[in-house]
Amino acid sequence: MEKAFCFSFVLLVLFFSSFPFPALARGSERSSSNLPGSEDYNNGFLVRHLFEENSRQLGREVTHGYMTNSELEKAVKEIGQRCSNICRIYSIGKSVKEVPLWVIEISDKPGHEEAEPAFKFLGNVHGDEPVGRELLILLANWLCDNYMKDPLATLIIKNVHLHILPTMNPDGFSLRQRGNANNIDLNRDFPDQFFPTNDDVDLRQPETKAIMSWLTGRHFTASASLHGGALVANYPWDGSQNSRKEYYACPDDKAFRYMASVYSRSHHNMSLSTEFQGGITNGAAWYPIYGGMQDWNYIHGGCFELTLEISDIKWPKADELSTLWEFNRMSMLNLVASLVRTGVHGRILSSDTGQPLPASVMIKGINYSVKSGGTFGDYHRMLGPGESYEVMVTMPGYQSKTTHILLKDKATSVDFVLDPEEPRQHKQFSTGCDCNYGNQNKLEMVGFFRGIHLEITLPAIVILVFLCFLLKRKMIKFPKHKQLLGHKRPIVI
Ligand SMILES: *[C@@H]1O[C@H](CO)[C@@H](O)[C@H](O)[C@H]1NC(C)=O
Ligand SMILES: *[C@@H]1O[C@H](CO)[C@@H](O)[C@H](O)[C@H]1NC(C)=O
Ligand SMILES: [Zn+2]
Repeated sequence: MEKAFCFSFVLLVLFFSSFPFPALARGSERSSSNLPGSEDYNNGFLVRHLFEENSRQLGREVTHGYMTNSELEKAVKEIGQRCSNICRIYSIGKSVKEVPLWVIEISDKPGHEEAEPAFKFLGNVHGDEPVGRELLILLANWLCDNYMKDPLATLIIKNVHLHILPTMNPDGFSLRQRGNANNIDLNRDFPDQFFPTNDDVDLRQPETKAIMSWLTGRHFTASASLHGGALVANYPWDGSQNSRKEYYACPDDKAFRYMASVYSRSHHNMSLSTEFQGGITNGAAWYPIYGGMQDWNYIHGGCFELTLEISDIKWPKADELSTLWEFNRMSMLNLVASLVRTGVHGRILSSDTGQPLPASVMIKGINYSVKSGGTFGDYHRMLGPGESYEVMVTMPGYQSKTTHILLKDKATSVDFVLDPEEPRQHKQFSTGCDCNYGNQNKLEMVGFFRGIHLEITLPAIVILVFLCFLLKRKMIKFPKHKQLLGHKRPIVI
């Protein structure tokens, strides 16, 4: 069977991958040559060698001017103190060598849940790709310095919860190697949709486990991991079902192409790439990988993740970092801001109680669903602009609702109020025993009033009942919806 063949093939590939080959950008489990810039066929795949450095031969001097892990930890904590009004520092776990994996959350209400999209940036997934961790510290500092000064910084801080993990692989960094301290490539350590090779939880690395549990109970709308060794914005799928190097589109291909283009077009020169049209690529079209973090995020985290290759050279001289930051600054900011500048957003509430519902949002023709949050019932659905979409909301026990939207150059807000599947009768009209009790009370009241002035009490009772009815309807309060910047009030469906 083809599956069996694929499986043994993957085993073969994994076997070969345990040799210390030179690193590629997203990784080369299939490369066997150290030649820089060379192309060859290995196991039938065209493999690109992007690197001149063999990580094993990297001397200490390459790290000159880069933050050490303890300097990075210090920088993270300094940001947390300097900008405590908009920053919260927390750790999602520890590396093999017990280095905490620090995260900086940036928002006007850090640590508080809000009906807002969340974005995460991850750097240094590969230990020998350190540019991302430096740029993420610069990004956090820049946001901190420019809140209420720069409109883009303010838009992000007010409307998005941004979580920044500067290093996912501090051990790999200090060892100047791609993998973690166990020499495992973390971007091959996630469960894969096609091959069950990574499904053994006990074999999973602590860094991978930390990322996976980070996503449990927390909803990220989108994210990006930063890599080095190429200049391109890579989007799902990273792996193709048949292991071939070919364009393998995920259901949200359009939205991903849009997001990747936001990054490349805002970059100094990523979109001018001669290798990748527009500076973007489908992962499998470049070279398929399995067990990657990006596809796992999209499938299991409901999170639209990109893999960003932000510098051709993995270890540029440290004095070039500020230039690289300038090249990538608008890309990073615009990518995060795209969460509030496009897509469809809103809240999903129950019509009988007004309570937020954890429902599913689907788009006709796209086999993927986004869940709304349980606390506020808010959903954030990334979509490429310039098209019309049919949005359907479903929730067990409730009647589904559908609406059409035309997404132009702004995000659209649509709130859904769902009716329970079997419409419950209003108490006023019900004849159940619950209401008999109520009627009895009313009768007693009528008797009481009749004793006084029937002519005036009857209309008064009618008015009272009407007022009570109004009051009751008003009690079903729909919690205040936070307006997305520059948008009209949400449409309520
Ligand atoms: C982008 O600019 C850098 C620095 O100017 C240069 O080294 C690199 O070759 C350029 N890349 C592209 C794709 O134009
Ligand atoms: C939709 O996606 C699921 C996996 O998420 C898959 O099992 C199913 O076959 C897909 N349906 C269609 C119609 O493509
Ligand atoms: Zn990488």
